[in-house]
Amino acid sequence: MNAPDFLQASILIVDDDKAHLLAVEEILGRIGARIVTASSGEEALKRVLEEDFAAILMDVQMPGIDGFTAARMIRERTRSRSTPIIFMTAAHEDLAAMFQSYRAGAVDYLVKPLIPEVVRSKLAFFVGQHDMNKMLSAELAERALTEQRLRASEQNLRALADRLQSVREEERIHIAREIHDELGQALTGLKYDIAALVKASAETPESVPTKAQSCNQAIDRIINAVRRISSGLRPEVLDEIGLHAAVEWQAREFSRRTGIRCSVEISPNFTDPDKQRSTAIFRIFQELLTNVARHANATRVNVTLADAESLALKVEDNGRGIQESEFESPRSLGFLGLRERVLAFGGSIDVKGHEGKGTSVSVCIPLTAQQPVFHE
Ligand SMILES: Nc1ncnc2c1ncn2[C@@H]1O[C@H](COP(=O)(O)OP(=O)(O)OP(=O)(O)O)[C@@H](O)[C@H]1O
Ligand SMILES: [Mg+2]
Repeated sequence: MNAPDFLQASILIVDDDKAHLLAVEEILGRIGARIVTASSGEEALKRVLEEDFAAILMDVQMPGIDGFTAARMIRERTRSRSTPIIFMTAAHEDLAAMFQSYRAGAVDYLVKPLIPEVVRSKLAFFVGQHDMNKMLSAELAERALTEQRLRASEQNLRALADRLQSVREEERIHIAREIHDELGQALTGLKYDIAALVKASAETPESVPTKAQSCNQAIDRIINAVRRISSGLRPEVLDEIGLHAAVEWQAREFSRRTGIRCSVEISPNFTDPDKQRSTAIFRIFQELLTNVARHANATRVNVTLADAESLALKVEDNGRGIQESEFESPRSLGFLGLRERVLAFGGSIDVKGHEGKGTSVSVCIPLTAQQPVFHE
């Protein structure tokens, strides 16, 4: 099995005899691991602090800290607690030394002179184990990350579902209020106008045309109110005039209501996209303008809309500047909704805030045929 580069295992060889160190290095040169050498127990302890090894091949008899002591100290450290240690010794008859080496934490024992094939196959086994462990840990980390992402996305979905529910309720309250205020009053007015017209036709016929005109005007006002209320509910304006004109219309309405100047630049030869993309861009545009009106404290808004490789909408204001914590927060349901809308088309959203200078939000929706995952 060939391990990927990032897994490349290292083997530490510890021996005070330089010639022997070189010989072992030569033997192990062909198993594909990185070789690190140390010529004393002290140096070995330093190396294991610096990196993880697939295995340590250590001479027993060394001046200073001998192999057994070094092994015990290596075992005591968390980082190297389970690094396999293989001792090399010339004392092949010395059974006591062999037992001592196991007690010091060795996993194997090689007798000098070393037989290259034996050394290679033993070490290759440990390198294989090491690679396997690394791959398993990488897989576990990947799985943990995926689970974390899933949990975050579940949380977002739940927040979005709650948000949709409350938006629906807010919308109902809004419609009821609009109908009550706009239509209720206008119809009451019309009722009075008609009563006056009936009375005039009996008592002062010459005033009938004026009274009839007043009724007509009241009816016009009602028709306008119905239009205004329904355009606030569904972007019918899109069906009637298309995205290009609807964006310009919405910008004018926004300026009229808020007094904030709003310039719109739409790329030449802009072609209105399909209904789903038009609705998404239009709703995003409305949300961004509402945010400017509610939070930005701006005096100017610049809007650009283009359809080169993808649909690109940018809304910039010169207000206080949004902070990252504001648009990254899971409580920012407006932005959460924007992201969900854009992601449904495989698009992206980029928010930038400059303190005291303004906010810019860029939205990109691919024009390729991907079907949205969800839409209104
Ligand atoms: N253009 C802007 N300039 C400055 N701050 C902004 C701007 N747009 C948004 N914000 C900040 O980001 C926050 C999150 O916006 P978001 O649209 O997600 O929520 P919201 O507008 O407060 O509520 P809603 O859920 O009704 O949209 C806002 O509360 C506001 O503090
Ligand atoms: Mg908002």
